[in-house]
Amino acid sequence: MSILIYGAYGYTGELIATEAVDRGLDVTVAGRDGTKTRGLAAMLDTDSRVFDVEQADTQLDGIDIVLNCAGPFVETYKPLVDACLDTGTHYLDITGEFPVFEALAERDRDAEKAESLLLPGIGFDVVPTDCVASHLHDRLPSANELRLGFEAMGALSGGTVASIIEHGSGGGKVRRDGKIVEVPFASQQREIDFGAGMRHAVTIPWGDVATAYYTTGIENIEVYTPMSATAGRALQIASPATAILEIDPIKDGLQWLAKQAFSGPSETRRNTETALIWGEVTDGERTMTTRLRTPEPYALTVDAATTALERLQETSSVPTGYHTPASAFDPAFVLGLEDVDGFFDEETTQ
Ligand SMILES: NC(=O)c1ccc[n+]([C@@H]2O[C@H](COP(=O)([O-])OP(=O)(O)OC[C@H]3O[C@@H](n4cnc5c(N)ncnc54)[C@H](OP(=O)(O)O)[C@@H]3O)[C@@H](O)[C@H]2O)c1
Repeated sequence: MSILIYGAYGYTGELIATEAVDRGLDVTVAGRDGTKTRGLAAMLDTDSRVFDVEQADTQLDGIDIVLNCAGPFVETYKPLVDACLDTGTHYLDITGEFPVFEALAERDRDAEKAESLLLPGIGFDVVPTDCVASHLHDRLPSANELRLGFEAMGALSGGTVASIIEHGSGGGKVRRDGKIVEVPFASQQREIDFGAGMRHAVTIPWGDVATAYYTTGIENIEVYTPMSATAGRALQIASPATAILEIDPIKDGLQWLAKQAFSGPSETRRNTETALIWGEVTDGERTMTTRLRTPEPYALTVDAATTALERLQETSSVPTGYHTPASAFDPAFVLGLEDVDGFFDEETTQ
């Protein structure tokens, strides 16, 4: 299968393109900057295509799969997805952005008709937590509440910070009775053992609030990360101030600054740091918990995205329509990635 990686010269795109070429996949690198795209193609000895996302409808000849690494994805996904559905091409990305997950879920039937796969979130956000959600749901199908979380203290890339700023004014998010509800940042707080002892944790607007609903059908979902009670309280108080990010010049300026200031984790950090993943489901009577230990988030993203491309290349029947990582493959997908340990299961009866 022929794979086009868009946004291939970004921090994460380049890591994925390099890994995909190393694994022998048929890769074309693409992006809007001709010098950077052709430079990467020369370095990796691949084909290249240079185009703005708005021109995607004329750029997918001979391509079977598009992997979009150009974020903030809310600015790039639509023309690429439209072009994929027009040409029966599969679309994957590494987004963690709610509006993108939700917009793609709404294109499910169009994708079925086009015989295309729509698979957003094939990075750290949301592969390990999505597989944990699916694994827990398999263990307790009657569950009506799902809580997920992760502990990962690594460095961030400029693109990741720009994406956080892009959606910063949207506040916190949880899912209640099947609907995504906007709440203040850190609105829920509790103690969680992510795998290295009890930590104070707060809710964050992480992609699984959107995706785990499609994976499991569970209507109440929260995602947690460790944060001190004082910092959590400060975030709650600061929540209304994030409305300032709706002012375009302020948002654009901060995104520009983020791209200068954040360069992503070094190779050493990617190779040595780890992350802890935790999940819990309950049906009111029984509670199941599970944990995973994974590599550093960007390292996991590179492995997950490249492994997904390999899996699609190997299978004789690519799933079509909208999928989450665990529904496109299976909950054990994450266990097939390098240096992932788990699932470490526990059960409590109330
Ligand atoms: N799911 C996950 O766990 C995960 C992991 C890693 C990264 N990500 C996400 O992936 C995205 C990229 O991250 P990164 O670390 O690679 O950031 P980066 O180094 O800033 O790279 C961003 C890439 O996207 C391109 N791009 C941005 N806006 C574009 C537009 N409107 N049209 C065409 N190309 C555009 C950039 O091209 P120009 O330089 O020409 O603007 C660049 O190639 C971010 O949204 C980040 O949050 C997600």
